[in-house]
Amino acid sequence: MSGYGKVVVLQQEKSESTNPMPNPGRIVIIGGCGHVGLPLGIVFANCGISVTLLDIDHEKIAAVSSGHMPFMEKSAEELLRKVVSKTLLATADNSCLRDADVAIAVVGTPVDEHLNPTVTELYRNIDSTLDLLPDNSLLVLRSTVYPGVTKLVYDRVQSRGRRIHIAFCPERIAEGKAMEEIRSLPQIISAFEPEALERARNLFAIINGELIELTPLEAELAKLFTNSWRYLNFAISNQFYLLAESYGVDFYRIHDAATRRYPRMGSFARAGFAAGPCLLKDTLQLSAFSGNNFFMGHAAMLVNEGLPNFIVSQLRKSGLSGKAVAILGMAFKGDSDDKRESLAYKLRKLLMLEAREVLCTDPYIEDKDFVPLDEALQRADIIILGAPHSVYLSLAVPQGKHIVDVWGFWPERETAGASALTARHQSL
Ligand SMILES: NC(=O)c1ccc[n+]([C@@H]2O[C@H](COP(=O)([O-])OP(=O)(O)OC[C@H]3O[C@@H](n4cnc5c(N)ncnc54)[C@H](O)[C@@H]3O)[C@@H](O)[C@H]2O)c1
Repeated sequence: MSGYGKVVVLQQEKSESTNPMPNPGRIVIIGGCGHVGLPLGIVFANCGISVTLLDIDHEKIAAVSSGHMPFMEKSAEELLRKVVSKTLLATADNSCLRDADVAIAVVGTPVDEHLNPTVTELYRNIDSTLDLLPDNSLLVLRSTVYPGVTKLVYDRVQSRGRRIHIAFCPERIAEGKAMEEIRSLPQIISAFEPEALERARNLFAIINGELIELTPLEAELAKLFTNSWRYLNFAISNQFYLLAESYGVDFYRIHDAATRRYPRMGSFARAGFAAGPCLLKDTLQLSAFSGNNFFMGHAAMLVNEGLPNFIVSQLRKSGLSGKAVAILGMAFKGDSDDKRESLAYKLRKLLMLEAREVLCTDPYIEDKDFVPLDEALQRADIIILGAPHSVYLSLAVPQGKHIVDVWGFWPERETAGASALTARHQSL
């Protein structure tokens, strides 16, 4: 298809002063109070565009409407407060779609209990959206979707005889960096028809001057390749970690030696839990798309999902039964309150089968079963870092605790030859 695959760099700064971007009209973001929808809505609303966040979660709607972020996202709350009740509204009333010029769908796209992508919910949402959207509106799919879904949605619109333009423009932010990345990352846009592409171009040019145009299938795969690549990359490091530690060698001494002033190893990640709502799920989507022939993806799943099991088997060697174990940080990554698909919870389950007691703590997640940090530190024989929250960097840990730090977060304190599990046995 001619014209696709090109990078379009728009001189946004200049054109704002002399030739303003066309106003896209009223935007409704479906799933607008979530991790993708809310930052995006805040950015558009701060550009002076009228944004309605449509969501089914009443607690999140109430939080957003009173100027509070329902989850952690750096710098988002101050920008939210500038626009809430002005250019930004949150509601559960889907009649707002009737007046929309643009609808952006960012509802979740989970995998089912058989680890296959589920599209039933997505279709239900799309069908009810299509019923309400006026003709000549633009519907942008921004969730990460199974390859081919954009075409199916496009065909659905055609078969209903509706004149609604369809585009697929995947979100690529990382949680915690959304406010910075929405404006700095090039935006991938795609559509089947020139008019839909033009509308998508005008929409995303408002927030970012660099647009990359692909076909919808290319864009769907670009998003899945991105997340799977990261997941595989973490798996390589985790595999090397397992290898080194099985031989009683400190992985981080090797990591440091291999990467220090050696640019070719710049992408050698540190080990750690590769978890969260996207990376595994999107590797599974690609796996399903490949007819379960995505061997490297499957291998990565075994390694990454096996890391908690490895920790437990290493601890078993020096005696686990009768011990109290604390997990510090239950979120799926550091400085986050997102516990979705966190491997710290898998670790907890495994430990509960063998340890005398498992104490969990996290500064950002409320849970009646968690204990305060001090109590966890005092009562535990073994301390495992579950999520590398910055607040743990300068922890004072009582002497004589066995410390497990897969992330290499805490400073090294031992000599060559000792297992990192042993090496991190020292107080911090
Ligand atoms: N979280 C990330 O960092 C990230 C980054 C890039 C892409 N994505 C993709 O974006 C999509 C959304 O992810 P998320 O993390 O924002 O999920 P989320 O759960 O944080 O947000 C989804 C929101 O949709 C709402 N919702 C569910 N059903 C709805 C409906 N029928 N009508 C209106 N609202 C509804 C939920 O209440 C929730 O607030 C997924 O496909 C994900 O893979 C996520």
